[in-house]
Amino acid sequence: MTQKAEIRRFIRHGTLVQLSVFETVARLGSFTGAGKELHMAQPTVSMHIKKLSEMVGLPLFDQSGRVLKLTEGGRELHAACHEIFQKIVDVEKRLATLRRAGTQKLRLSVSTTAKYFAPRLLAHFWETHPGIEVAMLPMNREQLLNRIEADLDDFYVLSNPPEGQHDLVLHTLLPNRLGLYARDDHALADATQISAARLRGESVLMRESGSGTRMVADAFFAGLGIEPRITLEMGSNEAIKQGILAGLGIAVLSHHSMGSATRKGHIVALDVIGLPIERHWYLVHRRDRVLSPMAEEFLRHATDPHLLEELAEGDS
Ligand code: PGA
Repeated sequence: MTQKAEIRRFIRHGTLVQLSVFETVARLGSFTGAGKELHMAQPTVSMHIKKLSEMVGLPLFDQSGRVLKLTEGGRELHAACHEIFQKIVDVEKRLATLRRAGTQKLRLSVSTTAKYFAPRLLAHFWETHPGIEVAMLPMNREQLLNRIEADLDDFYVLSNPPEGQHDLVLHTLLPNRLGLYARDDHALADATQISAARLRGESVLMRESGSGTRMVADAFFAGLGIEPRITLEMGSNEAIKQGILAGLGIAVLSHHSMGSATRKGHIVALDVIGLPIERHWYLVHRRDRVLSPMAEEFLRHATDPHLLEELAEGDS
């Protein structure tokens, strides 16, 4: 508050222009020279200096001799001018960096399961926009929702967006199938039409609470009327996959996270009645977010039906 009262005088009089005129006169030692440099008529230069001097309450130049000299007050102000202008240059440099970052870096947060296919959306985008910097952070659903709330990224990719949230715009991407996976030598690996009763007592590996996959798995077991025997809870799809491969249990996971393990046949999707669970992936952004031109461009690419068809075919 106090500081504001002290600088009120400077704010009221358009001081920055006056200081710039003053600095030029002081540097060149001439009103006429300053006028030429600043493309200003000499009387305008004089008028700015007069106003500045009145505001400061001190004469700024000693015009008694042939040479224009700074007074003591003028010298003080001249030194301050350098600091003020240097500060403005520094701030402008920092702001320019922020402006560049704002337009050139694309920020995406993706769920730990979406991270398996999100790079493919980028690959397509990079074909036509090479060199664009992208920050892609994988995290679980709960952490992702916190980032949406804090409006930290251009886009979010997840499978279980919050329901009924009208402040979010959702673009449907690819299908997301979730199955119950087991090692190829599991007792149920070759069974067909597995019923809920046969799953009772099975050792189940689960994602941590806060994960969207966990949410779906909980709902799945609840739907079967089974209390799963959770033997291991882990915060990563990879760790769960390794757990399955080590024969520690079975787990509900997205087919996107299985990769070569199912292709090579080391892990199989159990043929359980009611599975797979069919979901979708969504590209999400806040409705109130002003998308940068680059973000708009990415949105156009990522939601291109031909690309999505191509990616979905690659998955099946
Ligand atoms: P998560 O992802 O299990 O990594 O939270 C699922 C989702 O996208 O909802």
